[in-house]
Amino acid sequence: MSHLIAPSLLAANFLNLATDIEMVNNSVADWFHVDVMDGHFVPNISFGFSIISQIKSIAKKPLDVHLMIANPDSYIEAFKKAGADNLTVHYETCPHLHRTIQSIKENGMKAGVVINPHNPVELLTDIVADIDLVLIMSVNPGFGGQKFIQSSLNRISRLKDLLIQKNSKALIEIDGGVDTSNAAMLAEAGVDVLVAGSAVFGSPDPTATIKKLKELTS
Ligand code: DX5
Ligand code: ZN
Repeated sequence: MSHLIAPSLLAANFLNLATDIEMVNNSVADWFHVDVMDGHFVPNISFGFSIISQIKSIAKKPLDVHLMIANPDSYIEAFKKAGADNLTVHYETCPHLHRTIQSIKENGMKAGVVINPHNPVELLTDIVADIDLVLIMSVNPGFGGQKFIQSSLNRISRLKDLLIQKNSKALIEIDGGVDTSNAAMLAEAGVDVLVAGSAVFGSPDPTATIKKLKELTS
């Protein structure tokens, strides 16, 4: 099966963002991964609605928006308006996760849930049948360029078992420290979508790196 590759724009060159978006448009990548950070839930601030709308205006592939913000419920409609196709919220930020998921779907987006490295994937047991996407953080959220946490592999297989057990069609996405050295292993472990930021934009030939990630996981 062919796996989806989602370059993370967090590692793009913001002074030449249009060039990097065109590069992804013309590559074999499948989605744009868009990281939103608020300086509360995570100790970093990235970008917000106006940048996302501008990205959307030239992006030819879906926007996979990863919210690392407190109180995401207040902004669901606004992210739809800005152009999000997938909206993924952290388990840790949603006291009424089922309601949040319903609201994302009612707003016409695919609904995803992210889980931090310290939280067991089994916390999602009773929600996996209702969601389109589970994102496993393989670094602590907030920054690009961190080292892949090896125990994430075990979390992927446990999540895979859980999805089968619950008859869930949710895709498994992995985010953090993904590169050409671990992509094949991650595909083997059961992920469907690989997010890669610094491995793509920090490489001498980002288009070729995306192609390599695709080939390694095909
Ligand atoms: C981290 C973000 C990631 C980040 C990944 O909080 O969620 O999407 O951009 O960056 P790399 O691929 O460099 O680890
Ligand atoms: Zn992300």
